[in-house]
Amino acid sequence: MTRTPTPDDKFSFGLWTVGWTAADPFGSATRPALAPWEYAKGLADLGAWGITFHDDDVVPFGTGDAERDEIYATLGRTVDESGLVIEMVTTNTFTHPMFKDGAFTSNDRSVRRYALRKILRNVDLAASVGATTFVMWGGREGQEYDGAKDVNAALSRYAEGIDTVAGYIKDKGYDLRIALEPKPNEPRGDILLPTVGHALGFIAELENGDIVGLNPETGHEQMAGLNYTTGLGQALWANKLFHIDLNGQHGPRYDQDLVFGHGDLISAFFTVDLVENGFPSGGPRYDGARHFDYKPSRTDGLPGVWASAKANMDTYIMLKEKAAAYRADPRVREAMEYSGVLDLATPTLGEGETLEAFLADRSVFEDFDPTAAAERDYGFVKLNQLAIEHLLG
Ligand code: GCO
Ligand code: MN
Ligand code: MN
Repeated sequence: MTRTPTPDDKFSFGLWTVGWTAADPFGSATRPALAPWEYAKGLADLGAWGITFHDDDVVPFGTGDAERDEIYATLGRTVDESGLVIEMVTTNTFTHPMFKDGAFTSNDRSVRRYALRKILRNVDLAASVGATTFVMWGGREGQEYDGAKDVNAALSRYAEGIDTVAGYIKDKGYDLRIALEPKPNEPRGDILLPTVGHALGFIAELENGDIVGLNPETGHEQMAGLNYTTGLGQALWANKLFHIDLNGQHGPRYDQDLVFGHGDLISAFFTVDLVENGFPSGGPRYDGARHFDYKPSRTDGLPGVWASAKANMDTYIMLKEKAAAYRADPRVREAMEYSGVLDLATPTLGEGETLEAFLADRSVFEDFDPTAAAERDYGFVKLNQLAIEHLLG
């Protein structure tokens, strides 16, 4: 039996996750749509701490201002009554046909300007509901044909857009940070900022990049054949891990959005280990939401919606317990020491050692025995097997 989640677990869900009625490119919806507050209430009943949403998940595109205010007020009442927080808000810049060639990077300038207004309006909303993260997933920013997009201009327009939004947040004094969400492809053939690394390189070029970080998603990195946990590690190292989208994926194929842990379970174990326990030798930590961005399978009905939402949290809790036991196990400590994992934190040059002294140190090179060094056993398999023992135990 898995324990019930508490607010300290900081579990949150996008309303579009449980709210997905399962229409896909090949078939129509298999489930009825509930009202946004019904999804919020259902998540709260399962023990979630927070919810997140796109503007259009709550208020259909094109709704008038008065009705919009009324709808947000209704959602706000449910959120307050169920003790939920709205920790993140994001903008839909992908569904409406006008966004077919992107929002900030559409070849059509009028679409770029419309997108900027839609996003700025949503920034105001995010601040008013108390969100502290503003995710920006540029799902349509990209191309199918290389000749169709001037990548230099596209990245300049992307940067212009993000910098304008970040500047607006600063001018307004909002307690809000932007988190870019990388994805390699789908719905575009190629999406700009396809991986954590591309996005970090992009942020470094921004004028207001100090309040811009990342929202890496498990499946998105794995679609690119990359290691999600390593990506989180680099984002943490750069102090740019602002938010996370947890889910499951089976390697490079369409975006599966499975329940967390239902893809690569060993990878999920190490993701939780990093998020909950930090790097083995210390360093930057993540303390934001444990946010799930998954889809209840199209084969499952409404009971499956709630079962799958619960499964994300249950799996996370089980992995958290196992990762804690793994770290506390003296055999693991010993194996880490044997493997040199803990030695890696020691700087390569000695404290105060000049390059001159280093070059003069014959033990480093001239008198060094490369053959002996090559004989070292690192014992990584043993260390990993201990992780498997804990995972399956
Ligand atoms: C996807 C993305 C989205 C974003 C969401 C928030 O692949 O569809 O993961 O679900 O996370 O749009 O911006
Ligand atoms: Mn996804
Ligand atoms: Mn996502």
